[in-house]
Amino acid sequence: MLSKVTFQSAVLATCISLIIASPSPQAEVSPVESEAIVIPVATRQPVPVVQTVPAKIDNVAVNSNTSIITSNVTTPAAVVAATTVKSTVLIFARDTASSYSGYSGLNGYAIPYQVVVVPQAGVTLPALNSSATSGNYGAIVILSEVSYDYGGTTGFQSALTSAQLATLYQYQVTFGVRMVRLDVFPSADSGTTALGDCCGAGVEQLLSISDTTKFATSGLKTSGAGVSTQGLYHYPATITNSSIATEFIQFAPAAGFSTTSTAGVINNIGGQQQV
Ligand SMILES: *[C@@H]1O[C@H](CO)[C@@H](O)[C@H](O)[C@H]1NC(C)=O
Ligand SMILES: *[C@@H]1O[C@H](CO)[C@@H](O)[C@H](O)[C@H]1NC(C)=O
Ligand SMILES: *[C@@H]1O[C@H](CO)[C@@H](O)[C@H](O)[C@H]1NC(C)=O
Ligand SMILES: *[C@@H]1O[C@H](CO)[C@@H](O)[C@H](O)[C@H]1NC(C)=O
Repeated sequence: MLSKVTFQSAVLATCISLIIASPSPQAEVSPVESEAIVIPVATRQPVPVVQTVPAKIDNVAVNSNTSIITSNVTTPAAVVAATTVKSTVLIFARDTASSYSGYSGLNGYAIPYQVVVVPQAGVTLPALNSSATSGNYGAIVILSEVSYDYGGTTGFQSALTSAQLATLYQYQVTFGVRMVRLDVFPSADSGTTALGDCCGAGVEQLLSISDTTKFATSGLKTSGAGVSTQGLYHYPATITNSSIATEFIQFAPAAGFSTTSTAGVINNIGGQQQV
């Protein structure tokens, strides 16, 4: 059985290879300086299973520990400027334990990263760029939308404010940087709708890569036997807005889901690219 972290790491590695495979045309990634790479001695510790709670998100009753993408975010202005970005990956996580699934995929590529732990009360964003043309981060990863259960009618919501997300989106468009969002509840903002949640104990729904055209050089294979999701709570989805969403990971049919369904999409929303 696959742990949630192994699963997220695999998805992240896929996403990172996508970022590496096709750098955005307007961003000129600063040259990698050669240096002796010191591989740290790491002890893998089991990550606690994230508990889910019954919640109503986007009018669908599910067990959850995440939220939909915050929707009232100011659209970034299209800015095309000659820019350079560092390769450091900026990771937003709820806690250091869950951030492991963000950086474990990066360690394999020896990509530098910076983890920002976002508590329920929120956080101040780090400086994204050091000048108008020099960006400090080459990619942004948001885990579970850093969402918390604020209770009442608010329910699960991101601890990043819509103003902060607008800042991140604008940085992405200005500097040609991609965003990876892992464990997001399907919603119109990613061009998807949840079909329900899955699965009860012992019910299997296999996961596989369905389209590698956006990262052809990564060596990933489509089809194949598929990866087990037993013990992983997930939300099979369908694409509702194909102008912004392209499927690249899918779930196999399972009890309650008679056809294949979408597990991961690539979004291009007015130049703001995310997976
Ligand atoms: C959701 O996940 C966070 C981080 O792992 C955890 O601290 C929190 O207790 C979980 N919330 C619920 C409602 O289970
Ligand atoms: C988005 O909505 C939240 C809560 O409804 C509100 O506090 C915030 O000011 C809104 N942000 C923008 C940019 O409209
Ligand atoms: C970051 O970039 C934006 C947009 O190019 C610019 O307005 C801002 O001044 C820059 N920040 C710094 C600290 O230079
Ligand atoms: C698809 O998304 C785009 C960009 O957000 C939006 O303008 C368009 O109305 C959406 N189309 C549908 C069918 O929801």
